[in-house]
Amino acid sequence: MIQQKSIRIQTKRAALEFEVDANSRLNQRAFGGNASDESTVVAIPTSGDGWVFEPAIRAVHADGNTSTDLIVEGVSQHADLTCIDLRDPEYPFYLQLFVRAIFDLDVFEMWTVIRHDEESEVVLEAFASSSLDFGTGDFRLTQFSGDWADEANMTSEKLTPGIKSLDSKLGVRAHQFTSPWFLLSKGSDSRTPLQSDSPPLPVRSSEDEGVVFAGALAWGGSFKFSFEVLPKGRLRTVCGMNPYASAYRLAPGVEFETPKMVWAYSDRGTGELSRKLHRYVRDEVIRDGNSPRSILLNNWEATYFTFDEDKIVSLFAGAKDLGIELFLLDDGWFGSKYPRDDDTQGLGDWIPDLAKLPHGIGALTEAAEKLDLRFGIWFEPEMVNPRSRLFEEHPEWLIRQPKREMELQRNQMVLDLTNPEVRSFAYGILDTTLRENPGITYVKWDCNRYFTQPGSSFLSPQNQSHLQIEYVRGLYEVMGRLAAEHPGVQVMMCSGGGGRVDYASMRFAHELWPSDMTDPVRRIFIQWGFSHFFPAIATANHVTRSGDRPLKFAFDVAMSGRMGLDIDLAKLSECEREVAAVAIATYKQIRDIVQLGDLYRLESPYSGSRSSLMYTYGDRAVVFAFSLGESFGNPLRLKGLEGGKQYQVKEINPECGRELTLSGGFLSEQGLPIPTLGKFESVVFLVTGQ
Ligand code: GLA
Repeated sequence: MIQQKSIRIQTKRAALEFEVDANSRLNQRAFGGNASDESTVVAIPTSGDGWVFEPAIRAVHADGNTSTDLIVEGVSQHADLTCIDLRDPEYPFYLQLFVRAIFDLDVFEMWTVIRHDEESEVVLEAFASSSLDFGTGDFRLTQFSGDWADEANMTSEKLTPGIKSLDSKLGVRAHQFTSPWFLLSKGSDSRTPLQSDSPPLPVRSSEDEGVVFAGALAWGGSFKFSFEVLPKGRLRTVCGMNPYASAYRLAPGVEFETPKMVWAYSDRGTGELSRKLHRYVRDEVIRDGNSPRSILLNNWEATYFTFDEDKIVSLFAGAKDLGIELFLLDDGWFGSKYPRDDDTQGLGDWIPDLAKLPHGIGALTEAAEKLDLRFGIWFEPEMVNPRSRLFEEHPEWLIRQPKREMELQRNQMVLDLTNPEVRSFAYGILDTTLRENPGITYVKWDCNRYFTQPGSSFLSPQNQSHLQIEYVRGLYEVMGRLAAEHPGVQVMMCSGGGGRVDYASMRFAHELWPSDMTDPVRRIFIQWGFSHFFPAIATANHVTRSGDRPLKFAFDVAMSGRMGLDIDLAKLSECEREVAAVAIATYKQIRDIVQLGDLYRLESPYSGSRSSLMYTYGDRAVVFAFSLGESFGNPLRLKGLEGGKQYQVKEINPECGRELTLSGGFLSEQGLPIPTLGKFESVVFLVTGQ
């Protein structure tokens, strides 16, 4: 038992401070900047022994006691990792709180490991990864929500007394409607209405100013974030896997590890916060986060399910001529008894459809290889259409509720990955296809539905509530094997667009498909939302014909992330081919700046008719401005440049010969002169230090 100890976890500009009090209870000082002068409060609120607000932990002990008390037994701090060992003084029930701090980035990862040696199972009914207190203040929550083809819309609201929760109950993927990440800004005025006659000042945080936190749960399943403004105005957050319908019966001696809750801090606004998170994602989340990505051509919006070998091979030569580096064959290539000619059948039967591809996948990879084009392929390993051989052979492999009519989404059901046989099947189909076709160097992993009838015939009746958690653990086992055994194969994470975009699933992938909405006008907003948590290198943006926008505009929007194309090249006019060729060549010139550089969001699409952003990398930068309506040529103040340095500024794609030399100071203070742009026009500038 430890008494009276302070535990400080320090990063460059933030600190998380705990204190063990005279009774060995763990308390926490408000999380934030280096010097919080706020008093301490309980660090891990447990249910049933005094705490009447949202609990972090609720356990039903083997003898039926529904309360838990935690005292500190030990603390260890080694390098970036702090571990606080707690136990219930009356039960052999243990909780370890882990905090890993990444000093330079002001990032804190928090998670817990729960274990017990009670006589029989303990039922865990709440198991937050993190339950931080933020002290008093004026808080504003920004969430990223939407729906299929409408992801990551930003909405901000002031938190008021009571509880606000963001959650997902979808199980198989983190979200479709609400993303597993948020921003929380804290106003400088810490007066509460009780302490002051005047109302608190509004929260002031922006791209460059103000105290702002980011939170993201590294978990690809159901999650819950609670924000509770308690009496006297302190904000408590409780974040982790969603305990909804997920009571977990923990056997003695078994460790229950919760996913990492990732927190980041900035006292210089949202821009700096995102740049820190981008570095974190590049270094610690996505695979090979510092190696530039290939320019990809996808056939989905060009052909949908209607293609054959000749059609696909015919796309290769045009792709190569334009400078494309990777071809991705999407849905529709498989199925025999039930060929995948539309989304009603074939899912689960992962053998090439010989009617479309008489010589299998090998003929395609060989043809691509001859042109020095990489080849990728689409999979949806967790799913099955009832019209498939797989379903006929294994109707028991589905997630469904007995005695209920199967509820289909996109005509498909989810396979039960809690079952090791199903996991072997899912891995097996990937492994076999990749081994038989070593020319495949890229996989798009899709997931086009979620749980609506969460029942498993593999789990025992009393363990049905483990499904949401065990499914994701099973999924990660399969994804982990794929990454370990096929390290040379890159992975795109897709889930009916951006439904599986969390910091855990993305550990197995190189990039994400943010949305099936590819109209560049809507895409500007979607990419803006994702850019708060993911760097451009991880965000696949494809040029399509959606919305019928000017082709240059579509290219410029795609170029501001990891650019690709999803159009039928054979249908391009001469003039359009020229536009595409110039854009692809331009992208190659700026790819390192966009994919490896630092992002500065300059003008939000939410607040005007012009949206702009820029990336800096070494002494080069690239600036994008997109006009969503009539936009007047207001100068654009650039960021991230050196004040005393001269910069050459040149419009690229197309290169119009407009060229200027201006100082960094001028560009940041007076701004870059931008021409008046008509609706859906855009400009791109390359800025080079002299
Ligand atoms: C999902 C994906 C699309 C495409 C289709 C194929 O909707 O988001 O990009 O791959 O599946 O069926």
